[in-house]
Amino acid sequence: MTEKRTFAVADEAAMIQLGRELADLWKAGDCILLSGELGAGKTTLVRGILAELGWTKAVRSPTFTILQTYETEPPVLHADLYRLESADDTGLEEYWHDHLCLIEWPDRLDERVTSHAWRVEIAFEEPGRVVTVTPPALD
Ligand SMILES: Nc1ncnc2c1ncn2[C@@H]1O[C@H](COP(=O)(O)OP(=O)(O)OP(=O)(O)O)[C@@H](O)[C@H]1O
Ligand SMILES: [Mg+2]
Repeated sequence: MTEKRTFAVADEAAMIQLGRELADLWKAGDCILLSGELGAGKTTLVRGILAELGWTKAVRSPTFTILQTYETEPPVLHADLYRLESADDTGLEEYWHDHLCLIEWPDRLDERVTSHAWRVEIAFEEPGRVVTVTPPALD
């Protein structure tokens, strides 16, 4: 995908399916910023991505732990920065290069980190959602 794309996503099952399709675009070292209001469906999309990578066990939102890794191929880092107090101590750098990084509430991060990332924005369009996927700016 080289241009911005928009998807109408009717329900939770369709969100899982979209996550499965997007997973095939991404590799270790890619950073995906997932934005959208509380309850938009960010973690649901992560569930779909992980399902596509063969993860069959539970996926919990790392709301309190901030970071959660999955030993899939590629390995995944799932972060939820909602409760992060300072952008300086995320510990994310350790995972940057060898994980597919999926980050909820990325507005807590600074530009240095986010400039080469994909952006996935989820908006409510009841009863479903609209998801906009923007590839990183081409250098
Ligand atoms: N496309 C969709 N249409 C309707 N409901 C959806 C859709 N995708 C997810 N949902 C539902 O929205 C609810 C919230 O989903 P989820 O926990 O993934 O949101 P979130 O963005 O991660 O929230 P938070 O900001 O709290 O982390 C769930 O009940 C889920 O089933
Ligand atoms: Mg979530």
